[in-house]
Amino acid sequence: MAESKNIVLTGIRPTGALHIGHLVGSLYSNIEIQNRGDYARMYGMIADAQGLTDNFDNPDKVHENVMEVALDMLAAGYDPDKTVMFIQSEISELTELTFYYMNLVTVARLQRNPTVKAEIAQKEKFSGGIPVGFFTYPISQAADITAFNANIVPVGDDQLPMIEQTAEIVHKFNSIYGETLITPHAVVPDLQAAARLPGTDGNAKMSKSLNNCIYLKDSADEIAAKVKTMFTDPNHLRVEDPGNTKDNPVFIYLSVFAKPEHFAAFMPEYANYEELAAHYERGGLGDVKVKKFLNSVLQETLRPIRERRETFAKDPAVVIEILRRGTMAARAVAAETVSRVKRAMKLNYFD
Ligand code: TRP
Repeated sequence: MAESKNIVLTGIRPTGALHIGHLVGSLYSNIEIQNRGDYARMYGMIADAQGLTDNFDNPDKVHENVMEVALDMLAAGYDPDKTVMFIQSEISELTELTFYYMNLVTVARLQRNPTVKAEIAQKEKFSGGIPVGFFTYPISQAADITAFNANIVPVGDDQLPMIEQTAEIVHKFNSIYGETLITPHAVVPDLQAAARLPGTDGNAKMSKSLNNCIYLKDSADEIAAKVKTMFTDPNHLRVEDPGNTKDNPVFIYLSVFAKPEHFAAFMPEYANYEELAAHYERGGLGDVKVKKFLNSVLQETLRPIRERRETFAKDPAVVIEILRRGTMAARAVAAETVSRVKRAMKLNYFD
């Protein structure tokens, strides 16, 4: 079999513990790619420096979440024997590349980046003005991607503008300084799995500040309590009333997490999600019963993840060692890229 030449890079900002929205939106698909094995190398970067671009005044938050996110990644199935897990800020070559790439991007182009635009619009915290570091983070992300010669970058669709902008930087660099950098391609997880999970309160987004998340590290009791108080269809007042499954987070979660074996074990009167949803829509199926089922499904899904997390959490030195080893391996590759870039730019006086 031909050896794959693919280099895969995944990145995640350590600004909060990971929740089931991350599981469905990226972790499952990243781990699937990892375990499929069609790559020469796969990286899992914890983007702490990028996390600081909109949390520069809260270093404790980013610091603490590096360990939290590392534990969440390992718990979800990142395997350090397959994926090089590393910490962004420990690779100073990334800031060096960022500085050189800044020459290749205009202010107007950054202002047009839809993700940056949306983030600026939603951030009251930038009332004091937009930090240049935040404004230019797409350039630093181009450094993250190109430093490791990644050609495949699995991302959610909110990140597509970043990959597009990286490709532009690569193209411009190569056309001015000669063929040096690899063009990355985004891989977006398939639609069903990537459906953005709403919060437990029915809000379209699961977010820490809204207090509507189910975390990978939640205890069995916490999960049960959160499911019990979940928002459902507010018009489904009596069991016999017809119910709405479309904007109903209980059903959205079930549509993503409930497998045939869950039905067989906990709700054998239905074979699958479609049958359950049809009964709810018809009327005659109560929320308490459905929530009980969702609780069982989430308990089954999250228990092995939580148990792996607890095992690693008991031994933080092991996790630090994983990150240290990964960081050293990543740094060697980034250093090689920086020399290539500097040579191309004729910044090689002592060669
Ligand atoms: N911007 C990504 C996020 O918000 C994190 C990230 C940083 C990243 N650098 C990256 C993702 C490089 C992919 C490739 O989650």
